[in-house]
Formats: sequence, C-alpha cells, structure tokens
Amino acid sequence: MRIVGISGSLRAESNNSKLIEIAKICSPAGVEFLIADQLGKLPHFNPDLDIEDFEVVFQWVDLIRGSDGLVISSPEYARGYPGTLKNAFDWLVQTDAHVAKPFMMLSASARSTIAKDSLIVVLETMSGIYKKHLDVTIPILGTSLSLKQLLETDEIIDKIGDSITDFSKEIKRDEGENI
Ligand SMILES: Cc1cc2nc3c(=O)[nH]c(=O)nc-3n(C[C@H](O)[C@H](O)[C@H](O)COP(=O)(O)O)c2cc1C
Repeated sequence: MRIVGISGSLRAESNNSKLIEIAKICSPAGVEFLIADQLGKLPHFNPDLDIEDFEVVFQWVDLIRGSDGLVISSPEYARGYPGTLKNAFDWLVQTDAHVAKPFMMLSASARSTIAKDSLIVVLETMSGIYKKHLDVTIPILGTSLSLKQLLETDEIIDKIGDSITDFSKEIKRDEGENI
C-alpha cells in the first residue's frame, strides 16, 4: 500500500511538513509512505497545457494516481490555504488521478479551520473521500520544536501513528470491498 503525504507549506522549518515527516516515520509495516516534493516546482496550471509537457507535472499526477490514500497538512494564509496547494490540485482536476482517493488531514494549528474546511470542499468536489474521523490536530503553531523534539513526545507519535494505522486499515478494507 502506498500513502502520499502532502504539506501545503514550502517553509524550510514548516510545522506542517514536520507532521507529514512524523506520519511517514509512524507508518505501519506494509505501508510505503512517500512525501510529495513537487509542489513548489509545478508551473501555474493552465488547461491549455498538457501534463506530459512538464516532467514535474507528470511526476506529480503519477504520484497521486499511484497512491492508495493521501495525508495532507496545510497552513492557513489569510483565511485560505496556500495557492501552491490549489495549483497542485488543479493539475489533477482533468485527470482520473484523484477520483475516489481517500484522504485525511493533519493540522499544526487548532485555529486554522477556514483553510482546512475550504480545502476539504475542493478535494470532495474532486471526488476524494474524506476520512474526517481520522484527522489529527497537533497545535504546535508558534513553537520552534525540531522534528527530533516532536518525535520525543509520545502523545504526538501515538496520535499520528494510530491515525495512519487506522487509515491504512480502512483503505485496505475499502479496497477489498471494491474488488
Ligand atoms: C502570510 C501569512 C498569513 C497567515 N494567515 C493566517 C490566517 O489567516 N489564519 C491562521 O490561523 N493563521 C495564519 N497564519 C499563520 C500560519 O498558518 C502558521 O504560521 C502556520 O503554522 C505556518 O505553517 P508552517 O509552519 O507549516 O509553515 C498566517 C501566516 C502567514 C505567514
């Protein structure tokens, strides 16, 4: 099973990216957890352009198409989610890559709910399947804890680890039902 982690932040010390790293580290056996690294390199979406024209776009679409589920963590900027993330998902709209894709959200801030809710509307519009009950919020906004320090906090490991494990079980169950 392959799960793809997506951070909406391009910041070097991004808390959302750290949560995605933790999700990768906490993934159970049998799960290949890949972190998308194309977002900051994608050209602006334009329906006149072809996915095959850009290697990085092709890689992004292929990564999502080949995944069994997505874990997303994003900051909120001026009550929206970053344009980087919208641009990346816009490239998927005219493809089948995101159709029926299960997704769950991590959050580094308890207050950034407007961006999160709006992103969920977009992903459900794109036929994604939102696993709301698996969401995890780790309120580390304003802290500068390193990944190493976060990994030393049992509660964080347990919460994210349990959620990713349940996510993988649900994906397996749902895929079994759809055979
Ligand atoms: C330009 C800018 C605008 C922001 N606007 C909001 C906002 O509207 N609501 C909010 O809750 N946080 C807002 N924040 C705070 C970020 O969401 C917060 O710093 C976030 O944790 C950054 O994520 P990162 O550490 O993954 O980069 C803003 C931050 C920046 C830099």
